Amino acid sequence: MCGIIGYAGHRPAVPLVVEGLGRLEYRGYDSAGVAFIRENALEVVKAQGKLVCLEEKLAQIPNTVATCAIGHTRWATHGVPAERNAHPHCSNNKQIAIVHNGIIENFQELKEGLLSKGHTFTSETDTEVLVNLIAEGRKQCATLQEAFAWALRQAHGAYAVALMSPEEPGVLYAARMAAPLILGSGVGENYVASDIPAFLPYTRNVVFLDDGEVVRLTANSWEVLDLETLKPCQKQCEAIQWDMQAAQKGGYRHFMLKEIFEQPRVIRDCLTGRLTPDRKGVLLPELETLPVPERLHIVACGTSYHAGLWGRHLLESWAQIPVSVEIASEFRYREALILNERDMVMVISQSGETADTLAALRIAQQRNVPVLGLCNVVGSSIARDASQVIYTQAGPEISVASTKAMCSQMVMLALIALAWATRKDCFASAQRAEILQTLSSLPDILEQHLPAMHKQAQAIAPRYAKARSFFYLGRGHCFPLALEGALKLKELSYIHAEGYASGEMKHGPIALIDSDFPTFALALNDALLPKVQSNIVEVQARQGQVVALTDGPLSIPVDDVWQIPCVPGALAAFAALPALQLFSYEMADYLGKDVDQPRNLAKSVTVE
Ligand code: M6R
Repeated sequence: MCGIIGYAGHRPAVPLVVEGLGRLEYRGYDSAGVAFIRENALEVVKAQGKLVCLEEKLAQIPNTVATCAIGHTRWATHGVPAERNAHPHCSNNKQIAIVHNGIIENFQELKEGLLSKGHTFTSETDTEVLVNLIAEGRKQCATLQEAFAWALRQAHGAYAVALMSPEEPGVLYAARMAAPLILGSGVGENYVASDIPAFLPYTRNVVFLDDGEVVRLTANSWEVLDLETLKPCQKQCEAIQWDMQAAQKGGYRHFMLKEIFEQPRVIRDCLTGRLTPDRKGVLLPELETLPVPERLHIVACGTSYHAGLWGRHLLESWAQIPVSVEIASEFRYREALILNERDMVMVISQSGETADTLAALRIAQQRNVPVLGLCNVVGSSIARDASQVIYTQAGPEISVASTKAMCSQMVMLALIALAWATRKDCFASAQRAEILQTLSSLPDILEQHLPAMHKQAQAIAPRYAKARSFFYLGRGHCFPLALEGALKLKELSYIHAEGYASGEMKHGPIALIDSDFPTFALALNDALLPKVQSNIVEVQARQGQVVALTDGPLSIPVDDVWQIPCVPGALAAFAALPALQLFSYEMADYLGKDVDQPRNLAKSVTVE
C-alpha cells in the first residue's frame, strides 16, 4: 500500500529518491518523506499530501550532497494521513531512520514493552514502534545488522522495510516479509524499492528478494542474508526486458486513457506465441505439467475478481469444468471445501502482490491443491509462489484503476478454457478455430473503433454527471461487466454505483429507481437480449433514465443508445469493456477528479 525506495551510490541521492517515489506514487499518495545523512546526523523531511508537497519543502532546505537516502510514499493504514504519521520514522535517539510498507500486526504489544523501557512515540504508526524496537535491539546486539534482524524476528505481519543510520553512513539495510521488495543492482550504485519502475531508468538488473531475507547494500556491494541465521543467501540477478517508455503517458492526458487505448496491443501480445502455426489451436505449455482440474476455484479481488466471474462462463461452457469464483478476503477466512488434488485454485492478480489473494494461494498450498497464478507483474510474489504462472502480458499498468490488465486476464482465461476443452476433448475443433479467429480479429476491431467510442463517452458522460447513483445491469456474461462498470464509476468519479444481474432488480433494487437514478444497461445482441430489454422497460416505467450499450438493433427507445462493434458470443465483452472504462474515465475527468490517483485508493493492496 505504500512505496519505499533506498539508494546508495554516487549520484545526489535525495532528488533521485524523490524521482523514484514519483514512479511509486500509484502505491499511495497521502504523504511522502525522505531521510539522508548531513554532517553525521540523520535529516528527515516529510510532508502531508502528494509528492509535490514534499518537493516544495525540499526546495526550501539547503542543497545536500548526500549519496545515500531512503524515501517513502504513503497510503495510510495506522494513523490518519498527517505529517506526524508520514515516513521515514526515527528512533528516539535519532540514530536510526526507517521506511516501511506493510503492517506490523503485534505493534501494540511491542509498543507496550517499549513504553515500559522509556521509549516515547509521536505518531500512531506501527513503523515508529519498529524503529524504536531496532534501537532497543542495538543496545544489546553487537552490530546494527544484528539489531535489525533481532527486531524483525519479533515483528509479526507484513513488511518491506529499509533502514539507514549515521552509525554506518553509506550503508542501507532492507528486509522483506509478505510485502514486495526488489533490489536493483547498478554500477557504483544499488537500490531497493517496492517496484522496479522506481529505479528502472538507472538499472535493469534486479534481484527479487524473498520473505525472510535481509539485504545490506552500499554503493559498490550488496549481500542478501537469511533473517534467522544472518548467513548469506545465493541470489540470481535478472535482467528486466521492458523499459520506462512502456510506463510513460505517451501523449495521453492520463495513464488510464493510455492504458485503455493500449488494449488492442495487449490482446496481440497475449496471443503472440500462444497459438499453433495454423492459429487453430492454443499453446499454453504452463498448463502441461498440471492436470485438468475436476473443479476450479478462482480467487481474486476487485477487477481481477470480475475477470474471474467472466471467465467462469467460458470455463463452464467450453471446458465443462465446474467453477466457483470468490473474493479472496472471503475465501481466506472460510472453510473452503477444496476436496482433493484434482481440484485447482486459480489466483488472478494484476500486481501479484494483493495480500488477500496471496493468502488464498497459501491456503491452497497448505492443502496440496495446485495453484495456477494469472499475474501481470513478472517476479511478483504470487507469480513466484504459484505452482504455475501464466503471465498476462499487459505491460506496466500505472493508473490505479485497472483497465488493460482485465482485458489481458480475459484473453488468458479464454485461452485456458480452450486449452482445457481441447484436452478434455469436449469441444469441436471447428468451434475452437472460430473463437481463436475472433480473438485474433479483436485488436483490429478495437483499433478501428476506440476513437469513436471515446467520442461517444465524451458526448454522453456530461449528461449524467449530476447523478448521485447509478445502476449497471447485465445478464449472463454481461453481469460481471456490469459489476466492473459500477466499480470503475465509483472508484473514479465517487458516484455511488451498483452492478446488478438484471433479473435481480425486481427483488428489491428497483425500489430505488426514479428520474434522478439512471441505469447503464448492457444490452448486447445475444439470447438474453429480450429479457434485458424487458428489464430496461421496467426501469423506464419508474421514470429511470437509461443508457444502453448495444451491438445490434434495440427494439425499445432509450435515452442514450451506445452502439459498439459486433463481436460474436462471449467475446463481445472485449468491445463492451473499453466502453465502460471510457464512460467512467470521462465522467471522472468531467467532474475534475484525479483520474490516475483516486482518493483513498492504492494500486497494489499489499495489506489486509
Ligand atoms: O493487483 P490485483 O489484480 O490483485 O488487484 C486487485 C484489485 O485491488 C484491483 O483490481 C482494484 O479493484 C482496481 N483498482 C480496480 O480498478
